[in-house]
Amino acid sequence: MQHAVRKAVIPAAGFGTRLLPATKAQPKEMLVVVDKPVIQYVVEEAVQSGITDILIIISEGKEVLKDHFAKDEHLEELLTQKKKTAELKEIQALHQMANITYIYQAEQRGLGDAVLCAEAFVAGEPFALLLGDTIVESAEPLTGTLAKDYAEKKDAVVALQRVPMAVAHRYGVFVGEEVASKLYKAQRLVEKPPQGNIPSDMVFAGRYILTPEIFDALRRTPPGVNDEIQLTDAMKILMEQHAMYGRLFDGVRHDVGNKLDFIKTNIVLGLQRGDIGAELREWLKSLG
Ligand code: G1P
Repeated sequence: MQHAVRKAVIPAAGFGTRLLPATKAQPKEMLVVVDKPVIQYVVEEAVQSGITDILIIISEGKEVLKDHFAKDEHLEELLTQKKKTAELKEIQALHQMANITYIYQAEQRGLGDAVLCAEAFVAGEPFALLLGDTIVESAEPLTGTLAKDYAEKKDAVVALQRVPMAVAHRYGVFVGEEVASKLYKAQRLVEKPPQGNIPSDMVFAGRYILTPEIFDALRRTPPGVNDEIQLTDAMKILMEQHAMYGRLFDGVRHDVGNKLDFIKTNIVLGLQRGDIGAELREWLKSLG
């Protein structure tokens, strides 16, 4: 089996109901954070992590995601004529930075079912999974950190963050034993445990390196929480045969799939931009 991770899967087929009406005619992954759609941040993280081939899982009506990364000769010609070199470079990077393909998930039957659509693309290799509505800020691209852990351990690795116990029921929860600094060996996983019965404050943060054995496990996974095929449940099956690791990362995860975090993400990332950061900071102060 190959051990370098060069393929990534980005599920982006969900409805985005928490952001309606904004997401009625526009995929949540295309909502703009500062000056780029969310999905572009995710693809850029993958590319900066050494990924060369990306599969985006979409559903009917989300074709604009394809358009965003497709070559637009007319636009490129226009920018060339107008000598807008910086803009031209940015637009060209969209179709040059990786080999991006798409697949349709026929029915939204859960994250596990979405991942199952990637089996032919993955073709027996380890692969990265990046949730399409999550932007991660970290010193080193998080998927790259996980890929390094994978290269050492040769078993699945998931990104973990600590959250207040009061909100842990919204996530996949990880229980494990620390085997190296911030690297945990999994003992137990629970997808969205009931409040009052939360076994740990470490939760899945939307980035994974998985091995192709996950597909057999997914096929054996019955519907779980919310009557959906849960990736976490398939990972539990995988754990019967293989070790699994969790990497607690230093950084921030922005879940842009809900209103408050969407606004906060725009502000936090806006403050970091050289062109608008200082003015935005002043303006925020003026609000008192
Ligand atoms: C999914 C996963 C969950 C994970 C979460 C955040 O849940 O099922 O394990 O903790 O993403 O990355 P969702 O937010 O899609 O309900």
